[in-house]
Amino acid sequence: MTTRPIADPAALDELDLASPTLHAEHELGAVWRHLRTHDPVYWQPPRGTQRGFWAITRYADVNQVYQDKAHFGVENGNALATLLHGGDSASGVMLAVTDGDRHDKVRGVLKKGFSKRMLDLIGHSLQETVDGLLLDALEKGDCDAARDVSSNVPLGAICDLLEIPDGDRKYLLDLTAHAWSSDYADEPPEESWVAKNEILLYFSRLAKARRGATGDDMVTLLANCHVDGLPLNQAELMANCYGLMIGGDETGRHAITGTILALIENPDQWRALKNGDVDLATATEEALRWTVPSLHGGRTATADVVVGGRQIRAGDVVSVWISSANRDETVFAGPDRFDLARTPNHHFTFAYGSHYCLGHYLGRMEVRAVLDGLRRLVSRIEQTGDEKWIYSSILHGMSSLPVKFTA
Ligand code: HEM
Repeated sequence: MTTRPIADPAALDELDLASPTLHAEHELGAVWRHLRTHDPVYWQPPRGTQRGFWAITRYADVNQVYQDKAHFGVENGNALATLLHGGDSASGVMLAVTDGDRHDKVRGVLKKGFSKRMLDLIGHSLQETVDGLLLDALEKGDCDAARDVSSNVPLGAICDLLEIPDGDRKYLLDLTAHAWSSDYADEPPEESWVAKNEILLYFSRLAKARRGATGDDMVTLLANCHVDGLPLNQAELMANCYGLMIGGDETGRHAITGTILALIENPDQWRALKNGDVDLATATEEALRWTVPSLHGGRTATADVVVGGRQIRAGDVVSVWISSANRDETVFAGPDRFDLARTPNHHFTFAYGSHYCLGHYLGRMEVRAVLDGLRRLVSRIEQTGDEKWIYSSILHGMSSLPVKFTA
């Protein structure tokens, strides 16, 4: 039922790859294919007051940028939305937009929060949550997979990780939905600033309350850790809790809704899943390669460097497109085929290199739990209305997917 027009590579000069509207309202597969073939390190010239930037589309070049800490940094922002609009206010404070030694040390602290004990605990409640949501959806008959199923899965897991009180969870979900993307083309940016600030304030209060406490939830770990002999300051505390929330919630939701749509659009793969012909871990990787919840990564060149034969200058804004690299025909056979048995499947959905997603285990567990639940509990999924794509150039997914599940 996907009705989005295909963006025409011949009109590339008029397309703005940083535009949320372009990504919400068009299919960009043909544009990525064209760029990979003819102009893999593409310079998008300035548009009005917006500065120009590089768009890197081939797997090998994306790999180079992700791994090259010496020439690419994140401190001006790690997405076009911030890089082209004055930088990231959490620069040098939130892990995802911090470089160098400080990044490595804070990352070490956060990593402890993903202990095996914590992940086992979350895994158990995750499957229960998913099964419960699917059973409710089955009882309802008609439902919205994005709102009724996906939106309730990652937030629960991330809230477990941070030990957020039950009563606050719905409030945080509403805020995260507005912080980075929008259901509408013309939503004022103030909505997103207000949402971000409210999330930060919430975590500031929570972290304060947990200073001096013992426990292995992420907020307690951050509130009581020492880096270079000093505790994290209030800004670092708030920003890193916020980073986990924002990094962990919306991406996971989009991976799940995208997986459900892919199963609807590929009935042979739905049958393979149902018949137990595919291994769940393998199927999870393909769902993640396919759905690309994070469309691109943003970097600033910190020194002159050559990528794919093109000269990039220090200070240039660089974007690496996961949505393109995950479909690179030189790496993935039949890249436009959704194939739950695909192996090997070294996609970039969680990026690569020093900023590789810290929550990748959790992201994988969520998608796997949904595939498992669908396989056991649902016999048929039908799409009953048009899906609605979100307006964002960084996040990719649906705010609505009307479906009918049959037991
Ligand atoms: C980083 C995607 C789930 C926390 C990243 C990056 C990507 C990504 C692409 C790299 C950004 C960059 O290179 O600039 C995803 C996807 C997910 C997911 C697709 C789900 C399907 C999670 C979860 C958490 C999380 C569940 C935490 C609970 C983080 C953090 C970073 C990160 C903290 C920054 C790591 C660093 O800079 O060292 N994620 N993520 N993510 N993600 Fe995720």
